[in-house]
Amino acid sequence: MGAQDGGCILVTGGAGFIGTHTVLQLLKEGFKVVIIDNLDNSVEEGVERVKDLAGPELAGNLTFILGDLRNKEDLENVFNGRRFDAVIHFAGLKAVAESVAKPFLYYHNNIVGTLNLFEFMEKYGCKKMVFSSSSTVYGQPEKIPCVEDFHLTALNPYGRTKLFVEDIARDIQKADPEWKMIFLRYFNPVGAHESGRIGEDPKGIPNNLMPYIQQVAVGRLPELNVYGVDYPTQDGSAIRDYIHVMDLADGHICALQRLLTPEFNGCTAYNLGTGCGTSVLEMVAAFEKASGKKIPVKLCPRRPGDATAVYASTDKALRELGWKAKYGLAEMCRDQWNWARNNPFGYHTHP
Ligand code: UD1
Repeated sequence: MGAQDGGCILVTGGAGFIGTHTVLQLLKEGFKVVIIDNLDNSVEEGVERVKDLAGPELAGNLTFILGDLRNKEDLENVFNGRRFDAVIHFAGLKAVAESVAKPFLYYHNNIVGTLNLFEFMEKYGCKKMVFSSSSTVYGQPEKIPCVEDFHLTALNPYGRTKLFVEDIARDIQKADPEWKMIFLRYFNPVGAHESGRIGEDPKGIPNNLMPYIQQVAVGRLPELNVYGVDYPTQDGSAIRDYIHVMDLADGHICALQRLLTPEFNGCTAYNLGTGCGTSVLEMVAAFEKASGKKIPVKLCPRRPGDATAVYASTDKALRELGWKAKYGLAEMCRDQWNWARNNPFGYHTHP
């Protein structure tokens, strides 16, 4: 179903890293899109660039609304007078350490905000959601690859917000089977759109590996701290499943298409990863190769709470969504570098 069929999607957090890339793909697929974003960790320039990339005709199908899910007036403003076929819910905070220091902030943003969203979806008769979950719900997995029916657990308030929202959604769906929901459990999203015009632009010093490497490469940070070189892995550094953000965006389109088919019912989760594990030191080497830049590293103790190795089983997404990641490490690093060298200060022109 596309815009020509009246398909209109509300995208919360659509100005952010994964949001911008997904919105662009939605427009290209012919959907109309309304974004609500409070710009807490994003800027409107990202949305402007999505419009540029989509072209003048499709840009007309995108509406941006500045608003916060914690504020019911903002939600009323979004829903009143509009009809949505589904909601893709990205909006939320995602820094683990910050969530430990500020649990109130995380529960208000990620839980109360989502409850408000559910309330307005119910009120306006839109009961279909794709939710941004995370591989964090597998905790420190006892087995790898992670399979969707593993026992779920949370290691910190951020992880608990993802787990709680999944649980709340399951309860809501059980009480009213008209609700249809898909949880997408992202592994480690990296890379950028091939144009190099949109990408990840975290506020402050990055917590995650790739944006940190990127800032070292452009000279904003002196060196990368490698957290842990004594893990039982081939080179001692920890292993994750990095996935190109464009693959992730396409995963949302496939999930949405499934959600919108009349046969789909209930609530279900899919891993979005490549199924391949890469160590921190392998990632550094791949980025150095793609960028031609030396990334100085400092070998540091393990970061508390980090797992040794996490990667996805991707069978369910392939079987039921027909989705599989297309890009490998070389393309992830190439596109991350392309974004970085064209935008050393992200969406800003100077620090
Ligand atoms: C983290 C969160 C996860 C969240 C995800 C997206 C934890 C334990 N997990 O995943 O819940 O969904 O971010 O925000 O925080 N690394 C370095 N140096 C750095 C940064 C990272 O060596 O400066 C290492 C880490 O120790 C880890 C790997 O790189 O082994 C990936 O780290 P990161 O990008 O933060 O992602 P996760 O920890 O997998």
